Amino acid sequence: MRVITTIAQVREAVREARCDGQRVGLVPTMGALHAGHETLIARSVAECDVTVVSLFVNPIQFNQKEDFEKYPRTWEHDLAVCERVGVGLVFAPSNEEMYPRPMMTYVEPGAVAEHLCGRFRPGHFRGVATVVAKLFHAVEADRAYFGEKDAQQLAVIQSMVSDLNMAVEIVPVATVREVDGVAMSSRNERLSTAERRAAPVLYAGLLAALRRLERGEREVRWVREAALEVMEREQLVRLEYLEVVDAVTMQPVEHVDGAVRVALAAWLGRVRLIDNVGFVPHGE
Ligand code: PAF
Repeated sequence: MRVITTIAQVREAVREARCDGQRVGLVPTMGALHAGHETLIARSVAECDVTVVSLFVNPIQFNQKEDFEKYPRTWEHDLAVCERVGVGLVFAPSNEEMYPRPMMTYVEPGAVAEHLCGRFRPGHFRGVATVVAKLFHAVEADRAYFGEKDAQQLAVIQSMVSDLNMAVEIVPVATVREVDGVAMSSRNERLSTAERRAAPVLYAGLLAALRRLERGEREVRWVREAALEVMEREQLVRLEYLEVVDAVTMQPVEHVDGAVRVALAAWLGRVRLIDNVGFVPHGE
């Protein structure tokens, strides 16, 4: 496994591999790798000849400087995970390499970033779209792998790739969960014992909404009600949003007549968690 820190070197390595007819997969991460990342990486390793994992904590997607500074940096562990799963190249640029001077150009996502997390984290998706565009230009991969847990991030990236004619195939990967249903996230580590015990109620609420959809309910207010009834039982949870949105545009719907995502963000103490489930009505 090679560890590369410059854009010029990673670009050259990837171009060489592609010239040799090899398919290159990219898994963009901010490090602090957990089992969810491992699944993304393993999928790329299984489908591509060379897998590049980027490790870069992107300052421009954080709303608070403190969150950026506190973001876990687990370098040794991350390299060990990459080595174990079969990664060929780790791209770990410094801040200076990625942002050598103040930025003058950004990728500004449109309506897809307006609702859900976009409402509560102004500028976050602009920061994500911009760094992902920069990574796509540095690592000219055939495919890039993103988790469905960050459904809005995935939709922002899919729309950017389509709108800007980027030549990379986006591969969505299903959310990986702990045995009690909690979606894998580096933030889970920050939950207290009581908060961690309460956390499964988020997925339980989403499943209640999903069951209602599967039984034929199409009015969003009743779908939301099913989830809220479950989540209200847990006092430690402070819901930030619970919305049913179009699966592609991320626009809220009132009536379900196409593919949707039921998505939520909630606070447990000082930790903000997000989760979602997808639903596609069949034969309607
Ligand atoms: O999902 C993440 O870890 C980040 O948002 C990403 C896509 C690596 C961009 O910094």
